Amino acid sequence: MVLSSWSTTSIEDVAAIAGLKWLQLYVYKDRAVTRRLIERAQDAGFAAIALTVDTPYLGRRVADIRNRFRLPPHLTMANFRDDAKARVTAADDSGLASYVASQIDPSLSWAHVAWVRSVARVPVLVKGILTAEDARLAVAAGVDGIIVSNHGGRQLDTVPATIDVLEEVVTAVEGRVPVFLDGGVRRGTDVFKALALGASAVFLGRPVLWALAYDGERGVSQMLATINEELRLAMALAGCASLKDITREHVRLPGQPRL
Ligand SMILES: Cc1cc2nc3c(=O)[nH]c(=O)nc-3n(C[C@H](O)[C@H](O)[C@H](O)COP(=O)(O)O)c2cc1C
Repeated sequence: MVLSSWSTTSIEDVAAIAGLKWLQLYVYKDRAVTRRLIERAQDAGFAAIALTVDTPYLGRRVADIRNRFRLPPHLTMANFRDDAKARVTAADDSGLASYVASQIDPSLSWAHVAWVRSVARVPVLVKGILTAEDARLAVAAGVDGIIVSNHGGRQLDTVPATIDVLEEVVTAVEGRVPVFLDGGVRRGTDVFKALALGASAVFLGRPVLWALAYDGERGVSQMLATINEELRLAMALAGCASLKDITREHVRLPGQPRL
């Protein structure tokens, strides 16, 4: 699992109970704060850093603006002690947008990626790549992996669906680093298609939240089991006995002639 920098449970508390875990990193204006997050994650046994590169500003989330999004008083961003970083309070619009504007570095660039790479002792992945060009630049900046992501469509309206740009990224990377995907994975068949187009693995965002709302931890286990079972069925019906049998030939794109 990938723990958000903004989690309401701290890195150390999650480390005490979670299995394989990575930290999702936001680059704060205060470099010391960012460095401290990396070090705490490493000390707590997190295996990698997933550096989110699509959020130098928060997207315009109209529901959050309308609702004046804030964290309820009993919840804080548990990785931080001082109120300016730990609390998301009601503002004139979205409290989260104000938080990002005051705390997160809007000048985020490839130099920051290289800096995170130089500070971290664990693999660094960039999360939020959508083009071949950025994939090549990410590899040049020394990253250990790429997560093709559009932030669940929450950052910029009208960007492409991740499944539609996955192959271009995989082709550009030429096997130098693994490529992962998130966004819109809802069924085992979605997993199958991402693997066929070259993803090493996929991540799930909102299905975890929906499953938690439905039945807590049991709901999440059930959701994962369902997706796993759907993947197994898709594999069996497509004639794939193992994951390595899932190939590019199993997917046809719109307008693509029959192979
Ligand atoms: C409620 C919510 C909170 C999120 N918070 C973060 C975050 O703190 N950092 C981040 O990099 N992405 C965040 N994301 C984006 C997810 O990491 C992921 O890219 C996206 O949800 C994947 O799409 P899916 O929800 O369709 O599976 C968040 C998404 C949701 C729905």
